[in-house]
Amino acid sequence: MNSSLQPLVIGHRGAAGEAPENTLASFRLAAEQGAQMVELDVHLSADGQLIVCHDDTLDRTTDGAGAIRDQTAEEIRRADAGAWFGPAFAGERVPLLSEVYELLPLTVEINVEVKDAAGEQLDAKLLDFLRQGTNLFRTVVSSFDHKLLVRLKAAEPELRIGLLYAADLYHHASYAALLETEVWSLHPHHGLIGREDAEDAKAAGIAVYPYTANRPEEWERLAAIGVSGIITDYPGRLNDWLAQR
Ligand code: G3P
Ligand code: CA
Repeated sequence: MNSSLQPLVIGHRGAAGEAPENTLASFRLAAEQGAQMVELDVHLSADGQLIVCHDDTLDRTTDGAGAIRDQTAEEIRRADAGAWFGPAFAGERVPLLSEVYELLPLTVEINVEVKDAAGEQLDAKLLDFLRQGTNLFRTVVSSFDHKLLVRLKAAEPELRIGLLYAADLYHHASYAALLETEVWSLHPHHGLIGREDAEDAKAAGIAVYPYTANRPEEWERLAAIGVSGIITDYPGRLNDWLAQR
Protein backbone atom coordinates (compact mmCIF):
# COMPACT_ATOMS: atom_id res chain seq x y z
CA MET A 1 0.00 0.00 0.00
CA ASN A 2 1.01 3.60 -0.61
CA SER A 3 1.65 4.86 2.94
CA SER A 4 1.53 8.49 4.01
CA LEU A 5 5.35 8.56 3.82
CA GLN A 6 5.21 7.81 0.12
CA PRO A 7 4.72 10.49 -2.53
CA LEU A 8 1.21 11.06 -3.83
CA VAL A 9 0.52 9.44 -7.19
CA ILE A 10 -0.62 12.18 -9.57
CA GLY A 11 -1.99 11.02 -12.92
CA HIS A 12 -0.82 13.29 -15.74
CA ARG A 13 -3.70 14.21 -18.05
CA GLY A 14 -5.36 11.25 -16.32
CA ALA A 15 -3.37 8.16 -17.21
CA ALA A 16 -1.98 9.55 -20.46
CA GLY A 17 0.39 6.65 -21.06
CA GLU A 18 -2.47 4.18 -21.28
CA ALA A 19 -5.52 6.16 -22.42
CA PRO A 20 -6.15 9.23 -24.58
CA GLU A 21 -4.95 12.20 -22.55
CA ASN A 22 -7.44 14.54 -20.90
CA THR A 23 -10.50 12.39 -21.63
CA LEU A 24 -12.98 10.92 -19.17
CA ALA A 25 -11.60 7.47 -20.03
CA SER A 26 -8.16 8.63 -18.96
CA PHE A 27 -9.37 10.15 -15.68
CA ARG A 28 -11.49 7.07 -14.92
CA LEU A 29 -8.48 4.81 -15.50
CA ALA A 30 -6.23 6.98 -13.29
CA ALA A 31 -8.77 6.77 -10.46
CA GLU A 32 -9.12 2.99 -10.93
CA GLN A 33 -5.35 2.68 -10.77
CA GLY A 34 -5.26 4.46 -7.43
CA ALA A 35 -4.13 7.96 -8.38
CA GLN A 36 -4.71 10.28 -5.44
CA MET A 37 -4.71 13.32 -7.72
CA VAL A 38 -5.10 13.90 -11.45
CA GLU A 39 -3.59 16.69 -13.49
CA LEU A 40 -5.42 18.29 -16.42
CA ASP A 41 -5.22 21.38 -18.63
CA VAL A 42 -7.94 23.95 -19.27
CA HIS A 43 -8.81 26.44 -21.99
CA LEU A 44 -11.84 28.62 -22.60
CA SER A 45 -14.15 28.00 -25.56
CA ALA A 46 -15.69 30.77 -27.69
CA ASP A 47 -18.84 30.57 -25.58
CA GLY A 48 -16.92 30.82 -22.31
CA GLN A 49 -16.91 27.18 -21.20
CA LEU A 50 -13.99 25.54 -19.42
CA ILE A 51 -12.63 22.89 -21.79
CA VAL A 52 -10.16 20.16 -20.80
CA CYS A 53 -7.43 19.89 -23.43
CA HIS A 54 -3.65 20.29 -23.38
CA ASP A 55 -3.12 22.12 -26.66
CA ASP A 56 -4.90 25.33 -27.63
CA THR A 57 -6.11 23.60 -30.79
CA LEU A 58 -7.97 20.33 -31.42
CA ASP A 59 -5.60 19.11 -34.10
CA ARG A 60 -3.22 16.78 -32.24
CA THR A 61 -5.60 14.96 -29.89
CA THR A 62 -8.88 14.80 -31.81
CA ASP A 63 -10.19 14.33 -35.33
CA GLY A 64 -11.29 17.97 -35.24
CA ALA A 65 -9.22 21.03 -36.00
CA GLY A 66 -8.75 24.66 -35.11
CA ALA A 67 -8.38 26.80 -32.02
CA ILE A 68 -10.49 26.03 -28.96
CA ARG A 69 -11.09 29.72 -28.32
CA ASP A 70 -12.71 30.06 -31.77
CA GLN A 71 -15.28 27.27 -31.29
CA THR A 72 -18.23 26.74 -29.00
CA ALA A 73 -18.26 23.84 -26.57
CA GLU A 74 -20.91 22.16 -28.71
CA GLU A 75 -18.68 22.39 -31.79
CA ILE A 76 -15.63 21.15 -29.87
CA ARG A 77 -17.56 18.17 -28.55
CA ARG A 78 -18.38 16.92 -32.05
CA ALA A 79 -14.74 15.85 -32.34
CA ASP A 80 -13.60 12.35 -31.41
CA ALA A 81 -10.86 12.59 -28.77
CA GLY A 82 -10.16 8.88 -28.35
CA ALA A 83 -9.84 7.08 -31.70
CA TRP A 84 -6.33 8.46 -32.36
CA PHE A 85 -5.10 6.55 -29.30
CA GLY A 86 -6.79 3.28 -30.17
CA PRO A 87 -10.11 1.90 -31.44
CA ALA A 88 -11.20 0.95 -27.90
CA PHE A 89 -11.40 4.66 -27.10
CA ALA A 90 -13.38 5.80 -30.15
CA GLY A 91 -16.23 8.08 -29.19
CA GLU A 92 -14.46 9.82 -26.30
CA ARG A 93 -15.24 13.54 -26.27
CA VAL A 94 -13.22 16.55 -25.19
CA PRO A 95 -14.56 16.98 -21.65
CA LEU A 96 -15.91 20.03 -19.94
CA LEU A 97 -14.14 20.68 -16.64
CA SER A 98 -17.41 20.10 -14.80
CA GLU A 99 -17.66 16.56 -16.23
CA VAL A 100 -14.31 15.61 -14.72
CA TYR A 101 -15.43 16.82 -11.30
CA GLU A 102 -18.68 14.88 -11.67
CA LEU A 103 -16.81 11.74 -12.72
CA LEU A 104 -14.13 11.55 -10.06
CA PRO A 105 -14.77 10.52 -6.46
CA LEU A 106 -14.16 13.20 -3.84
CA THR A 107 -11.09 11.26 -2.69
CA VAL A 108 -9.24 12.11 -5.91
CA GLU A 109 -7.86 15.66 -5.91
CA ILE A 110 -7.68 17.64 -9.12
CA ASN A 111 -4.72 19.70 -10.33
CA VAL A 112 -6.04 22.17 -12.88
CA GLU A 113 -3.30 23.63 -15.04
CA VAL A 114 -4.29 26.91 -16.63
CA LYS A 115 -2.74 26.94 -20.08
CA ASP A 116 -4.62 29.74 -21.68
CA ALA A 117 -3.54 33.31 -21.11
CA ALA A 118 -7.13 34.37 -21.72
CA GLY A 119 -6.93 36.83 -18.83
CA GLU A 120 -9.83 38.02 -16.80
CA GLN A 121 -12.51 36.05 -18.59
CA LEU A 122 -10.80 32.76 -17.74
CA ASP A 123 -10.07 33.92 -14.18
CA ALA A 124 -13.73 34.73 -13.62
CA LYS A 125 -15.07 31.52 -15.17
CA LEU A 126 -12.63 29.32 -13.29
CA LEU A 127 -13.24 30.99 -9.93
CA ASP A 128 -16.96 30.85 -10.46
CA PHE A 129 -16.72 27.11 -11.14
CA LEU A 130 -14.36 26.40 -8.25
CA ARG A 131 -16.60 28.21 -5.78
CA GLN A 132 -19.42 25.77 -6.46
CA GLY A 133 -19.98 22.98 -3.91
CA THR A 134 -16.78 21.22 -2.84
CA ASN A 135 -14.83 22.08 -5.99
CA LEU A 136 -12.44 24.54 -4.37
CA PHE A 137 -11.31 22.05 -1.75
CA ARG A 138 -10.62 19.32 -4.31
CA THR A 139 -8.41 21.57 -6.41
CA VAL A 140 -4.87 22.83 -6.81
CA VAL A 141 -4.56 25.34 -9.67
CA SER A 142 -1.12 25.40 -11.31
CA SER A 143 0.36 27.43 -14.13
CA PHE A 144 3.65 28.46 -15.66
CA ASP A 145 2.16 31.97 -15.45
CA HIS A 146 2.85 32.88 -11.82
CA LYS A 147 1.29 36.34 -12.10
CA LEU A 148 -1.95 34.63 -13.05
CA LEU A 149 -1.72 32.43 -9.94
CA VAL A 150 -1.07 35.41 -7.66
CA ARG A 151 -4.08 37.14 -9.21
CA LEU A 152 -6.32 34.11 -8.64
CA LYS A 153 -5.12 33.73 -5.05
CA ALA A 154 -5.83 37.41 -4.33
CA ALA A 155 -9.35 36.96 -5.67
CA GLU A 156 -9.92 33.70 -3.80
CA PRO A 157 -7.69 33.33 -0.70
CA GLU A 158 -8.88 29.74 -0.08
CA LEU A 159 -7.52 28.62 -3.44
CA ARG A 160 -4.44 26.35 -3.40
CA ILE A 161 -1.92 27.43 -6.02
CA GLY A 162 1.04 25.50 -7.49
CA LEU A 163 3.99 27.04 -9.33
CA LEU A 164 4.95 25.22 -12.51
CA TYR A 165 8.46 25.82 -13.83
CA ALA A 166 11.08 24.34 -16.08
CA ALA A 167 13.84 26.77 -15.09
CA ASP A 168 16.77 25.85 -12.88
CA LEU A 169 16.06 28.17 -9.95
CA TYR A 170 18.79 28.89 -7.42
CA HIS A 171 16.48 28.51 -4.41
CA HIS A 172 13.11 26.98 -5.12
CA ALA A 173 11.33 27.68 -1.82
CA SER A 174 12.72 31.22 -1.55
CA TYR A 175 11.47 31.97 -5.03
CA ALA A 176 7.96 31.05 -3.87
CA ALA A 177 8.36 33.41 -0.90
CA LEU A 178 9.15 36.29 -3.27
CA LEU A 179 5.61 36.09 -4.60
CA GLU A 180 4.33 37.22 -1.18
CA THR A 181 1.33 34.96 -1.24
CA GLU A 182 0.72 31.51 0.20
CA VAL A 183 1.94 28.86 -2.23
CA TRP A 184 0.61 25.33 -1.78
CA SER A 185 3.02 23.50 -4.06
CA LEU A 186 6.01 23.65 -6.36
CA HIS A 187 5.71 21.77 -9.67
CA PRO A 188 9.25 21.73 -11.11
CA HIS A 189 10.34 19.68 -14.08
CA HIS A 190 11.41 16.46 -12.37
CA GLY A 191 15.06 16.79 -13.33
CA LEU A 192 15.41 20.18 -11.66
CA ILE A 193 14.65 19.44 -8.03
CA GLY A 194 17.32 18.23 -5.60
CA ARG A 195 17.26 17.09 -2.00
CA GLU A 196 18.09 20.45 -0.46
CA ASP A 197 15.35 22.26 -2.34
CA ALA A 198 12.83 19.54 -1.51
CA GLU A 199 13.77 19.80 2.17
CA ASP A 200 13.63 23.60 2.15
CA ALA A 201 10.16 23.48 0.59
CA LYS A 202 8.99 20.96 3.17
CA ALA A 203 10.38 23.14 5.98
CA ALA A 204 8.45 26.08 4.52
CA GLY A 205 5.26 24.00 4.42
CA ILE A 206 5.18 23.83 0.63
CA ALA A 207 4.46 20.56 -1.21
CA VAL A 208 6.67 19.45 -4.13
CA TYR A 209 4.98 17.75 -7.11
CA PRO A 210 7.57 17.29 -9.91
CA TYR A 211 6.39 16.56 -13.46
CA THR A 212 6.37 14.31 -15.57
CA ALA A 213 8.33 11.28 -14.38
CA ASN A 214 7.59 7.96 -16.07
CA ARG A 215 10.58 5.73 -15.32
CA PRO A 216 11.45 3.78 -12.14
CA GLU A 217 14.92 5.37 -11.93
CA GLU A 218 13.26 8.81 -11.94
CA TRP A 219 10.72 7.71 -9.32
CA GLU A 220 13.54 6.32 -7.15
CA ARG A 221 15.45 9.59 -7.16
CA LEU A 222 12.34 11.66 -6.44
CA ALA A 223 11.11 9.38 -3.66
CA ALA A 224 14.59 9.35 -2.11
CA ILE A 225 14.77 13.15 -1.90
CA GLY A 226 11.34 13.23 -0.28
CA VAL A 227 9.02 14.88 -2.80
CA SER A 228 5.35 15.09 -1.80
CA GLY A 229 3.94 13.74 -5.05
CA ILE A 230 5.00 12.57 -8.52
CA ILE A 231 3.17 13.55 -11.68
CA THR A 232 3.25 10.61 -14.08
CA ASP A 233 1.59 9.31 -17.25
CA TYR A 234 1.51 5.86 -15.57
CA PRO A 235 -0.22 6.15 -12.20
CA GLY A 236 -0.87 2.38 -12.08
CA ARG A 237 2.78 1.50 -12.64
CA LEU A 238 3.90 4.12 -10.10
CA ASN A 239 1.49 2.75 -7.50
CA ASP A 240 2.77 -0.80 -8.10
CA TRP A 241 6.35 0.41 -7.87
CA LEU A 242 5.69 2.26 -4.62
CA ALA A 243 3.99 -0.81 -3.16
CA GLN A 244 7.10 -2.89 -3.78
CA ARG A 245 9.61 -0.27 -2.69
O1 G3P B 1 1.50 20.04 -14.83
C1 G3P B 1 2.64 19.37 -15.23
C2 G3P B 1 2.77 19.29 -16.71
O2 G3P B 1 1.54 18.93 -17.23
C3 G3P B 1 3.23 20.57 -17.35
O3 G3P B 1 3.56 20.44 -18.69
O4 G3P B 1 3.14 20.52 -21.10
O5 G3P B 1 2.56 18.47 -19.84
O6 G3P B 1 1.21 20.53 -19.57
P1 G3P B 1 2.57 19.96 -19.84
CA1 CA C 1 -0.32 20.04 -17.94
